[in-house]
Amino acid sequence: MATVVISLPFLVTLFFIFKLPFMSAQNDQFIYNGFNQTNLHLDGIAKIHSNGLLQLTNTSNQQVGYAFYPLPLEFNNSSSSSSSVLPRSLSFFTNFVFAIVPQMPMLGGHGLAFVISPSLEFTYGVASQYLGIFNTSNNGSPTNNILAIEVDTVKSPDVQDIDSNHVGIDVNGLVSNESAPASYFSGQEGKNRSMELMSGNPMHLWIDYNETEKLLNVTLAPTSIPKPNQPLLSEHIDLSQYLSESMYVGFSAATGAVASDHYILGWSFNKSGQAQSLDVSKLPQPPQHRKSKENPVIRMIIISLITVVVVLVLVTGATFIWRRKKYEEIREDWESEYGPHRFIYKNLYKATKGFSDKELLGVGGFGKVYKGTLSSSNRQIAVKKVSHDSKQGMKEFVAEIISLGRLRHRNLVQLLGYCRRKGELLLVYDYMPNGSLDKFLYGNDKSNLDWLQRFRILKGVASGLLYLHEEWEQVVLHRDVKASNVLLDAELNGRLGDFGLARLCDHGDNSESTNVAGTVGYLAPELTRTGRVTTYTDVFAFGAFMLEVACGRKPIEPQRLPEEVILVDWVFGCWRKGAILDASDARLEGNYVVEEMELVLKLGLLCSHSTPEVRPSMRQVMQFLDGNADLQELPHESACVGNFTSVEASEILSSIPSSFGMGLTPCSSSNSILNGR
Ligand SMILES: *[C@@H]1O[C@H](CO)[C@@H](O)[C@H](O)[C@H]1NC(C)=O
Ligand SMILES: *[C@@H]1O[C@H](CO)[C@@H](O)[C@H](O)[C@H]1NC(C)=O
Ligand SMILES: *[C@@H]1O[C@H](CO)[C@@H](O)[C@H](O)[C@H]1NC(C)=O
Ligand SMILES: *[C@@H]1O[C@H](CO)[C@@H](O)[C@H](O)[C@H]1NC(C)=O
Ligand SMILES: *[C@@H]1O[C@H](CO)[C@@H](O)[C@H](O)[C@H]1NC(C)=O
Ligand SMILES: *[C@@H]1O[C@H](CO)[C@@H](O)[C@H](O)[C@H]1NC(C)=O
Ligand SMILES: *[C@@H]1O[C@H](CO)[C@@H](O)[C@H](O)[C@H]1NC(C)=O
Ligand SMILES: *[C@@H]1O[C@H](CO)[C@@H](O)[C@H](O)[C@H]1NC(C)=O
Ligand SMILES: *[C@@H]1O[C@H](CO)[C@@H](O)[C@H](O)[C@H]1NC(C)=O
Ligand SMILES: *[C@@H]1O[C@H](CO)[C@@H](O)[C@H](O)[C@H]1NC(C)=O
Repeated sequence: MATVVISLPFLVTLFFIFKLPFMSAQNDQFIYNGFNQTNLHLDGIAKIHSNGLLQLTNTSNQQVGYAFYPLPLEFNNSSSSSSSVLPRSLSFFTNFVFAIVPQMPMLGGHGLAFVISPSLEFTYGVASQYLGIFNTSNNGSPTNNILAIEVDTVKSPDVQDIDSNHVGIDVNGLVSNESAPASYFSGQEGKNRSMELMSGNPMHLWIDYNETEKLLNVTLAPTSIPKPNQPLLSEHIDLSQYLSESMYVGFSAATGAVASDHYILGWSFNKSGQAQSLDVSKLPQPPQHRKSKENPVIRMIIISLITVVVVLVLVTGATFIWRRKKYEEIREDWESEYGPHRFIYKNLYKATKGFSDKELLGVGGFGKVYKGTLSSSNRQIAVKKVSHDSKQGMKEFVAEIISLGRLRHRNLVQLLGYCRRKGELLLVYDYMPNGSLDKFLYGNDKSNLDWLQRFRILKGVASGLLYLHEEWEQVVLHRDVKASNVLLDAELNGRLGDFGLARLCDHGDNSESTNVAGTVGYLAPELTRTGRVTTYTDVFAFGAFMLEVACGRKPIEPQRLPEEVILVDWVFGCWRKGAILDASDARLEGNYVVEEMELVLKLGLLCSHSTPEVRPSMRQVMQFLDGNADLQELPHESACVGNFTSVEASEILSSIPSSFGMGLTPCSSSNSILNGR
């Protein structure tokens, strides 16, 4: 016993003395954190990059690549080579970090393998599913003496692969004795987590074989975690049956019809005991993302896809911009309070069928008027498009328009709201099915209006104008009373439209525009001199309008006989001749109430008086028309100017039938109202 105890240290010492000259430490164990300046045996298309990255294959098809430790290692101690003093054991422990970058996301092949082979001669090895280490005739042959741990990314049915993402133990052939889908046991979570071999991410694989246990363990894990304590594969296997004395260790990889870059980042190997785990931080990094240019087909597909997407985006964008442009509006902060009156251009566009010419109701002094139907309410509307380039004064004008929208009178065309676009103002009114009065008076297409209808229209318009002048919270001047601005509703009631619109011109940049507010023939003489619009000028225009309705002709008709060109002069002439009824519309064929006709003609003359103060107010006009006022009480002391004298005016008044002169309107009060404006 004692000798044994003493001899053991001696033997150990002796062993090391003998061992050292024959074997370098590297022959039995080595660790490569990257392969820079290593002396690996490379074959096929394998190469080592300058950063130390070992690339077994690139994405060339049907290629193989090999990298082996250049010296053979002793495995099976059975053979007779007694001369060797190497520790001949079947045990080995290794781990390495690999990365597989497929040519297309999740499409690559075929795989790589850790190989223990009796020879470095692989010229017979076939690519693709044979991984470069077997061929069709030797696959599975017991004489191969090859152990391979495959990392396979293609499911090859002829070698009974379980899937396209597995790790297997191959003995002498590619039909794995044991294989499992790539996964690792997460100790933290207490469950297996699957891994994607072709993710391009580095992965750590451990292969351990203990000769005593005869247990071959294969363990896979991401590089971010240490070695899991449960192996992926654990197989009882007696390698002495398969491995001969002298074996080479290394890697093989192959591509097929599909290809991947196969990389080995680092490798640790030990036959004496557990191999040190690699320090992942020291390893070279594989290129992460494949560039599409490497495959012209993919590049073409990607380029076409990008082109299609770009074209789609452009078309969509252009459509969007076009639609935006088409329906673009101008909206300013100050308009928020008018929200309810603000129409959306798109809705108006749709209501008027895109402002189609078929929907055109007429072209007025301020722009075109279109008929429309609001899809939301089925309400019929008339949309007046007023071109207006001036921003200046727009705020005031819109404010006025909105306040006009609050006017409610049965003889006014209801303004529903507005919309603004660049250089354009859109005014939305109630639709008047019978159109404008002038078409009835002068047009041939419309049926003639009888006197009853005409008189009712006159009274209606007068009452609407009176409302504007005196009955609303503020004085509203119409500025453009004329037959073409009087619209007829379904019951042929006269309704004043376009009120206040002439004002738009006052706000315009064009200083001349002041002069065109109103219409020739309806313009009071003082208006053309001063440019100042008053209720008197509205009354003047209303006088011209009354004559227009009674006589069925326009205030000025240049093609007539010289004495008839100006309507008011002609009517006045008739009156002077004592034959005022001669001026009445011939189309009435004498079918009228004489008193009413006379009243209208004379009142028309009176309203057309060149001296504003001589003209009656709208309230008085209303009273005359209703037969409630005595015309003789009206003031007529003003200086005589214009077409007829104040004496003549008083004569006109006094000749108005007394049946119409019932009530009395104090002239002082009416004057004070006028002066107050
Ligand atoms: C690898 O070796 C080459 C020279 O052989 C050297 O230029 C290069 O810097 C080395 N790279 C690394 C990562 O050590
Ligand atoms: C792969 O490597 C071989 C040999 O280095 C080379 O001829 C071939 O062009 C490479 N293929 C690609 C796709 O990089
Ligand atoms: C070699 O094999 C023999 C039996 O075949 C065994 O007794 C011996 O321990 C082995 N040597 C080593 C170093 O494993
Ligand atoms: C297969 O490989 C063996 C060597 O292991 C070789 O003898 C044989 O000729 C090869 N067969 C083919 C078809 O390449
Ligand atoms: C994890 O996978 C291994 C090998 O496939 C299996 O033996 C083991 O039972 C699995 N463990 C769990 C917790 O699913
Ligand atoms: C193989 O794994 C089993 C189960 O985890 C373990 O008991 C055994 O020691 C391992 N053997 C080696 C050589 O790692
Ligand atoms: C491996 O598989 C082959 C073929 O199925 C079989 O002959 C052999 O016995 C298996 N080896 C082990 C260790 O399971
Ligand atoms: C390994 O050694 C054993 C004896 O221990 C022998 O029976 C076997 O044939 C050897 N295996 C190989 C592949 O040489
Ligand atoms: C092999 O397994 C045996 C028995 O479990 C153990 O005593 C021995 O240390 C192991 N060898 C190595 C190198 O891990
Ligand atoms: C090999 O194993 C021995 C014994 O466990 C250990 O001392 C040595 O550091 C290991 N070498 C490597 C490179 O893993």
